[in-house]
Amino acid sequence: MANLHLEDVRSRRKIGILQMKIKLSLVLLLIVLYWSLLVPDDLLSQGLKGPNVLDAKVKSFLEKRRGTWTDLNVPERDGKLLYDLIVKNQYRKALEIGTSTGHSGIYIAWALSKTKGKLITIEIDKERHQRALANFAEAGLAEYIDARLADAHDLVKELRGPFDFVFCDADKEWYKQYFIDIYPKLEKGGCYTAHNVSPGSRGMAGGTRQFYDYVKSLPALKTTVDESGGGLSISYRLR
Ligand SMILES: C[S@@+](CC[C@H](N)C(=O)[O-])C[C@H]1O[C@@H](n2cnc3c(N)ncnc32)[C@H](O)[C@@H]1O
Repeated sequence: MANLHLEDVRSRRKIGILQMKIKLSLVLLLIVLYWSLLVPDDLLSQGLKGPNVLDAKVKSFLEKRRGTWTDLNVPERDGKLLYDLIVKNQYRKALEIGTSTGHSGIYIAWALSKTKGKLITIEIDKERHQRALANFAEAGLAEYIDARLADAHDLVKELRGPFDFVFCDADKEWYKQYFIDIYPKLEKGGCYTAHNVSPGSRGMAGGTRQFYDYVKSLPALKTTVDESGGGLSISYRLR
Protein backbone atom coordinates (compact mmCIF):
# COMPACT_ATOMS: atom_id res chain seq x y z
CA MET A 1 0.00 0.00 0.00
CA ALA A 2 2.81 2.38 1.02
CA ASN A 3 4.68 1.45 -2.20
CA LEU A 4 1.63 2.23 -4.32
CA HIS A 5 1.30 5.63 -2.65
CA LEU A 6 4.99 6.39 -3.29
CA GLU A 7 4.61 5.43 -6.99
CA ASP A 8 1.60 7.70 -7.23
CA VAL A 9 3.48 10.65 -5.71
CA ARG A 10 6.44 10.07 -8.08
CA SER A 11 4.33 9.90 -11.22
CA ARG A 12 2.38 13.01 -10.20
CA ARG A 13 5.68 14.85 -9.68
CA LYS A 14 6.86 13.71 -13.15
CA ILE A 15 3.64 14.92 -14.74
CA GLY A 16 4.00 18.24 -12.88
CA ILE A 17 7.56 18.72 -14.18
CA LEU A 18 6.46 17.83 -17.71
CA GLN A 19 3.61 20.33 -17.56
CA MET A 20 5.99 23.02 -16.33
CA LYS A 21 8.40 22.32 -19.19
CA ILE A 22 5.59 22.52 -21.74
CA LYS A 23 4.38 25.84 -20.26
CA LEU A 24 7.92 27.24 -20.31
CA SER A 25 8.40 26.22 -23.96
CA LEU A 26 5.11 27.87 -24.89
CA VAL A 27 6.09 31.09 -23.14
CA LEU A 28 9.46 31.09 -24.97
CA LEU A 29 7.72 30.45 -28.29
CA LEU A 30 5.35 33.35 -27.66
CA ILE A 31 8.26 35.66 -26.81
CA VAL A 32 10.07 34.73 -30.05
CA LEU A 33 6.89 35.24 -32.10
CA TYR A 34 6.17 38.60 -30.48
CA TRP A 35 9.76 39.68 -31.08
CA SER A 36 9.89 38.74 -34.74
CA LEU A 37 6.52 40.35 -35.49
CA LEU A 38 7.06 43.63 -33.67
CA VAL A 39 10.78 44.36 -34.05
CA PRO A 40 11.70 45.68 -37.54
CA ASP A 41 13.82 43.38 -39.70
CA ASP A 42 16.87 45.62 -39.87
CA LEU A 43 17.01 45.73 -36.07
CA LEU A 44 16.76 41.96 -35.85
CA SER A 45 19.48 41.35 -38.41
CA GLN A 46 21.94 43.93 -37.15
CA GLY A 47 21.59 43.62 -33.43
CA LEU A 48 19.32 45.65 -31.25
CA LYS A 49 21.06 48.84 -30.33
CA GLY A 50 23.69 48.95 -33.09
CA PRO A 51 21.82 50.61 -35.97
CA ASN A 52 20.10 53.20 -33.78
CA VAL A 53 23.36 54.28 -32.25
CA LEU A 54 25.13 54.31 -35.63
CA ASP A 55 22.29 56.17 -37.36
CA ALA A 56 22.35 58.82 -34.64
CA LYS A 57 26.12 59.17 -34.97
CA VAL A 58 26.08 59.50 -38.78
CA LYS A 59 23.15 61.92 -38.70
CA SER A 60 24.78 64.15 -36.12
CA PHE A 61 28.07 64.10 -38.07
CA LEU A 62 26.31 65.07 -41.31
CA GLU A 63 24.30 67.73 -39.52
CA LYS A 64 27.43 69.23 -37.96
CA ARG A 65 29.26 69.27 -41.31
CA ARG A 66 26.38 70.48 -43.47
CA GLY A 67 27.56 73.32 -45.73
CA THR A 68 31.26 72.71 -45.04
CA TRP A 69 32.04 70.26 -47.87
CA THR A 70 34.27 72.27 -50.19
CA ASP A 71 36.48 69.66 -51.88
CA LEU A 72 34.38 69.01 -54.99
CA ASN A 73 32.10 66.88 -52.83
CA VAL A 74 28.66 65.77 -53.98
CA PRO A 75 25.65 67.78 -52.78
CA GLU A 76 23.51 66.23 -50.05
CA ARG A 77 20.81 65.41 -52.60
CA ASP A 78 23.18 63.10 -54.51
CA GLY A 79 24.43 61.50 -51.30
CA LYS A 80 20.84 60.57 -50.50
CA LEU A 81 20.30 59.20 -54.02
CA LEU A 82 23.33 56.92 -53.63
CA TYR A 83 22.10 55.79 -50.21
CA ASP A 84 18.64 54.94 -51.57
CA LEU A 85 19.97 53.02 -54.59
CA ILE A 86 22.07 50.77 -52.36
CA VAL A 87 19.44 50.10 -49.72
CA LYS A 88 16.65 49.58 -52.28
CA ASN A 89 18.67 47.02 -54.24
CA GLN A 90 20.45 45.53 -51.21
CA TYR A 91 23.88 46.05 -52.77
CA ARG A 92 26.89 44.92 -50.75
CA LYS A 93 30.04 45.17 -52.88
CA ALA A 94 30.64 48.81 -53.64
CA LEU A 95 33.41 50.73 -55.35
CA GLU A 96 33.88 54.49 -55.42
CA ILE A 97 36.37 56.25 -57.70
CA GLY A 98 37.21 59.67 -56.27
CA THR A 99 36.89 59.74 -52.49
CA SER A 100 37.92 63.35 -51.95
CA THR A 101 37.23 64.03 -48.26
CA GLY A 102 34.46 61.46 -48.07
CA HIS A 103 31.04 63.09 -48.38
CA SER A 104 29.61 60.60 -50.89
CA GLY A 105 31.58 57.80 -49.21
CA ILE A 106 29.73 58.46 -45.98
CA TYR A 107 26.32 58.06 -47.63
CA ILE A 108 27.45 54.92 -49.47
CA ALA A 109 28.96 53.35 -46.35
CA TRP A 110 25.93 54.31 -44.26
CA ALA A 111 23.74 52.40 -46.73
CA LEU A 112 26.18 49.47 -46.65
CA SER A 113 25.90 49.37 -42.86
CA LYS A 114 22.26 48.40 -43.49
CA THR A 115 23.02 45.77 -46.13
CA LYS A 116 26.13 44.41 -44.37
CA GLY A 117 28.33 45.42 -47.28
CA LYS A 118 31.68 47.08 -47.78
CA LEU A 119 33.02 49.98 -49.85
CA ILE A 120 36.39 50.28 -51.57
CA THR A 121 37.06 53.95 -52.30
CA ILE A 122 40.05 55.37 -54.18
CA GLU A 123 41.69 58.80 -53.91
CA ILE A 124 44.94 60.00 -55.45
CA ASP A 125 45.45 63.06 -53.25
CA LYS A 126 47.12 62.17 -49.94
CA GLU A 127 45.77 65.08 -47.93
CA ARG A 128 42.17 64.45 -49.05
CA HIS A 129 42.57 60.73 -48.44
CA GLN A 130 43.71 61.41 -44.87
CA ARG A 131 40.88 63.82 -44.20
CA ALA A 132 38.45 61.24 -45.57
CA LEU A 133 39.84 58.64 -43.16
CA ALA A 134 39.30 61.02 -40.24
CA ASN A 135 35.76 61.77 -41.44
CA PHE A 136 34.89 58.09 -41.83
CA ALA A 137 36.09 57.41 -38.30
CA GLU A 138 34.23 60.40 -36.85
CA ALA A 139 31.01 59.34 -38.57
CA GLY A 140 31.40 55.85 -37.08
CA LEU A 141 31.60 54.18 -40.50
CA ALA A 142 35.28 53.18 -40.76
CA GLU A 143 34.54 49.46 -40.50
CA TYR A 144 32.49 49.58 -43.71
CA ILE A 145 35.19 51.30 -45.77
CA ASP A 146 38.47 50.23 -47.32
CA ALA A 147 39.95 53.59 -48.37
CA ARG A 148 42.89 53.36 -50.77
CA LEU A 149 45.42 56.05 -51.58
CA ALA A 150 46.17 55.26 -55.22
CA ASP A 151 45.90 56.29 -58.84
CA ALA A 152 42.56 54.83 -59.87
CA HIS A 153 43.76 54.51 -63.49
CA ASP A 154 45.92 51.62 -62.29
CA LEU A 155 44.05 50.32 -59.25
CA VAL A 156 40.71 49.94 -61.02
CA LYS A 157 42.35 47.53 -63.47
CA GLU A 158 43.92 45.54 -60.63
CA LEU A 159 40.87 45.17 -58.37
CA ARG A 160 39.31 41.76 -58.76
CA GLY A 161 35.73 42.57 -57.93
CA PRO A 162 33.02 41.54 -58.38
CA PHE A 163 31.08 44.73 -57.60
CA ASP A 164 27.36 45.26 -57.48
CA PHE A 165 27.52 49.03 -57.04
CA VAL A 166 29.95 51.58 -58.49
CA PHE A 167 30.08 55.34 -58.08
CA CYS A 168 32.46 57.12 -60.45
CA ASP A 169 33.37 60.68 -59.43
CA ALA A 170 37.01 61.32 -60.37
CA ASP A 171 38.75 62.70 -63.49
CA LYS A 172 36.09 63.12 -66.16
CA GLU A 173 38.39 62.44 -69.12
CA TRP A 174 38.88 58.90 -67.82
CA TYR A 175 35.17 58.15 -67.18
CA LYS A 176 34.75 55.92 -70.23
CA GLN A 177 37.98 54.03 -69.56
CA TYR A 178 37.00 53.45 -65.89
CA PHE A 179 33.73 51.99 -67.10
CA ILE A 180 35.43 49.74 -69.67
CA ASP A 181 37.82 48.43 -66.98
CA ILE A 182 35.08 47.80 -64.41
CA TYR A 183 32.27 46.51 -66.60
CA PRO A 184 33.47 42.85 -66.67
CA LYS A 185 33.55 42.95 -62.85
CA LEU A 186 30.05 44.40 -62.50
CA GLU A 187 27.53 41.76 -61.48
CA LYS A 188 24.30 41.17 -63.39
CA GLY A 189 21.67 43.31 -61.68
CA GLY A 190 24.43 45.60 -60.47
CA CYS A 191 24.44 49.35 -60.88
CA TYR A 192 27.10 51.73 -62.27
CA THR A 193 26.60 55.38 -61.36
CA ALA A 194 28.60 58.41 -62.46
CA HIS A 195 28.54 62.00 -61.24
CA ASN A 196 28.21 65.26 -63.17
CA VAL A 197 26.39 63.62 -66.03
CA SER A 198 23.72 66.02 -67.30
CA PRO A 199 22.90 65.22 -70.92
CA GLY A 200 20.30 67.98 -70.99
CA SER A 201 22.88 70.67 -70.28
CA ARG A 202 25.04 72.13 -73.05
CA GLY A 203 27.90 72.22 -70.58
CA MET A 204 28.28 68.46 -70.65
CA ALA A 205 31.16 67.83 -73.00
CA GLY A 206 34.42 65.90 -73.25
CA GLY A 207 34.81 62.85 -71.02
CA THR A 208 31.36 62.80 -69.44
CA ARG A 209 29.69 63.11 -72.86
CA GLN A 210 31.81 60.27 -74.29
CA PHE A 211 31.04 58.13 -71.26
CA TYR A 212 27.32 58.82 -71.42
CA ASP A 213 27.06 58.13 -75.18
CA TYR A 214 28.95 54.89 -74.64
CA VAL A 215 26.81 53.50 -71.79
CA LYS A 216 23.64 54.55 -73.61
CA SER A 217 24.77 52.55 -76.66
CA LEU A 218 25.13 49.26 -74.75
CA PRO A 219 22.00 47.07 -74.95
CA ALA A 220 22.98 45.16 -71.79
CA LEU A 221 22.57 48.37 -69.75
CA LYS A 222 19.53 50.40 -68.83
CA THR A 223 20.69 53.96 -68.25
CA THR A 224 18.75 56.88 -66.81
CA VAL A 225 19.92 60.20 -65.39
CA ASP A 226 18.75 61.91 -62.22
CA GLU A 227 19.38 65.62 -62.59
CA SER A 228 17.85 66.72 -59.30
CA GLY A 229 21.34 67.29 -57.87
CA GLY A 230 24.66 67.47 -59.71
CA GLY A 231 23.58 64.97 -62.39
CA LEU A 232 23.82 61.27 -61.66
CA SER A 233 23.77 58.65 -64.41
CA ILE A 234 22.38 55.33 -63.22
CA SER A 235 23.11 52.28 -65.36
CA TYR A 236 21.73 48.87 -64.39
CA ARG A 237 23.42 45.84 -65.88
CA LEU A 238 20.58 43.72 -67.24
CA ARG A 239 22.60 40.67 -68.30
C1 LIG B 1 34.70 65.32 -57.46
S1 LIG B 1 35.91 64.80 -56.32
C2 LIG B 1 35.15 63.47 -55.47
C3 LIG B 1 34.13 63.92 -54.46
C4 LIG B 1 33.63 62.80 -53.57
N1 LIG B 1 33.02 61.76 -54.34
C5 LIG B 1 32.68 63.32 -52.54
O1 LIG B 1 31.52 63.50 -52.83
O2 LIG B 1 33.10 63.58 -51.41
C6 LIG B 1 37.05 63.97 -57.35
C7 LIG B 1 38.24 63.38 -56.63
O3 LIG B 1 38.88 62.46 -57.51
C8 LIG B 1 40.25 62.49 -57.27
N2 LIG B 1 40.96 61.95 -58.42
C9 LIG B 1 41.21 62.55 -59.62
N3 LIG B 1 41.91 61.74 -60.42
C10 LIG B 1 42.11 60.59 -59.73
C11 LIG B 1 42.78 59.37 -60.02
N4 LIG B 1 43.37 59.17 -61.18
N5 LIG B 1 42.79 58.42 -59.08
C12 LIG B 1 42.17 58.59 -57.90
N6 LIG B 1 41.53 59.74 -57.55
C13 LIG B 1 41.50 60.73 -58.46
C14 LIG B 1 40.53 63.98 -57.01
O4 LIG B 1 41.72 64.14 -56.29
C15 LIG B 1 39.29 64.41 -56.24
O5 LIG B 1 39.49 64.39 -54.86
